[in-house]
Amino acid sequence: MSNEKKFYITTPIFYPNAKPHMGHAYTVVLSDCLARYHRLVGDSTYLLSGLDENTQKMVNSARAVGKEPLEFLDGIASIFKNLYTELDISNDQFIRTTDRKAHWPGAQALWQKLVDSGDIYKKSYEGLYCVGHEAFVTEKDLVDGKCPDHATAPEFVKEENYFFRLSRYAQQLREKIASDELHIFPQSRKNEILSFIDKEGLDDVSFSRPRKADWPKGLGIPVPGDDSQVMYVWCDALSNYITALGYGRNDELFKTFWPADVHVIGKDILRFHAAIWPGMLMSAGLPLPKSLMVHGLILSGGKKMSKTLGNVIDSQDLLTEYGAEAVRYYLARHVTPFEDGDVTPESFKEVYNANLANGLGNLAARVMKLAETHLEKVDVPELVELPPEYVEAFEKFEINRAFDIIFSRVQALDQMITQTEPFKLVKTDLEAGKKLIADMAKELYRIGHFLTPFLPKTAEKIKEAVRTNKKPETLFPRK
Ligand code: MSP
Repeated sequence: MSNEKKFYITTPIFYPNAKPHMGHAYTVVLSDCLARYHRLVGDSTYLLSGLDENTQKMVNSARAVGKEPLEFLDGIASIFKNLYTELDISNDQFIRTTDRKAHWPGAQALWQKLVDSGDIYKKSYEGLYCVGHEAFVTEKDLVDGKCPDHATAPEFVKEENYFFRLSRYAQQLREKIASDELHIFPQSRKNEILSFIDKEGLDDVSFSRPRKADWPKGLGIPVPGDDSQVMYVWCDALSNYITALGYGRNDELFKTFWPADVHVIGKDILRFHAAIWPGMLMSAGLPLPKSLMVHGLILSGGKKMSKTLGNVIDSQDLLTEYGAEAVRYYLARHVTPFEDGDVTPESFKEVYNANLANGLGNLAARVMKLAETHLEKVDVPELVELPPEYVEAFEKFEINRAFDIIFSRVQALDQMITQTEPFKLVKTDLEAGKKLIADMAKELYRIGHFLTPFLPKTAEKIKEAVRTNKKPETLFPRK
């Protein structure tokens, strides 16, 4: 099915100030479904994820538990990696921004390009820095003197920094977003950023910080030509999308995969991706990503689930009890990607029972029990065409809709059994009964195929069951 197309997809790189929670799992699962879909249609696909490590947040967390930052980082990185393995995330690379070989040369090469374009200048600056956001905020962002997202007061900072001349690109960028050259999904987020540019314009951004005396060596990328300054963490972090492809050191992957086909991000980091990042790329004369998929947030008790707010649901608990496929199922189908959604253990259990254990799991067992009893074998379809509405949903990043389309076929097949009663038909008209059962098994096979991006293990088990004409083991066992 190969069509020689490429697809480069990235997740945000996460702050490793604590172990991952459902919110992180969410972004990564959505990205993985997209990557697996593109592999299914034959695209040469690259999925990148990783950690955003050169941050004050992380240093604070490490010290709070009496650890050295770099040691603390290694611990968190391995927890993230384990989560990816458990969730069956098919990332091709896991980039860490403390990686001096993989990340730093590219970040410094990009910085140099901005310098060459005359877009970096020095200025002294004072402002309020929110460590939670790792960004400067203004008085009007605060409620009772505190950042409402992090419930902490920002630090007053007065320092000399290098600035990036983002203002220079505001109009050009506006046009690229308005014309969908940089296509922002959904439309509401596109409108949000356009109206932000119209109302407030784009200010130049502080792009470096003085190196902190208490930061260990190895943390913070030195500004080329000025060791007393390290790159501002967002400048450092955003560049991961190209450094991971070897930008500035070994261009092979970069040539093949850049520009990104999509950056998957949460709505909380839209401005960084829809303004600063494309501004940097324009300054460096590099192509812009083709699209941003901006998803909503997972809430807990009505607020963004976050370690800083202390309202996290640990993905590990659900993984242990229900398994990875159930967690992937819930996140990909029952959280609407472009809105915020609350995740509760109760709703998780409800959809697990209704749609997996008693739904798909039961259906596969019924169909394959019939097939195993009445057929010698099932001729599996050689080429399974994807339903056009499923393809369209994936192209618009409407992952839950693509999933719904397949689940409506699960339901239809269920109803077909109830209505046609093949177990009775085989007694009165054996040939007609066998034909019906074979058709059902083939439909089950197709469903398995369509489930590949979402539930890779289940998809394989279903297809294998039909191929070998054997009832599968329980698909969704619970511990
Ligand atoms: N390190 C930056 C991103 C740099 S990208 C060049 C950052 N990290 S983060 O760990 O705070 O969050 C990154 C992303 O994780 C969010 O944009 C979002 O995609 C995901 N989520 C973190 N908490 C989330 C929820 N509660 N709900 C859904 N996704 C959330 O920002």
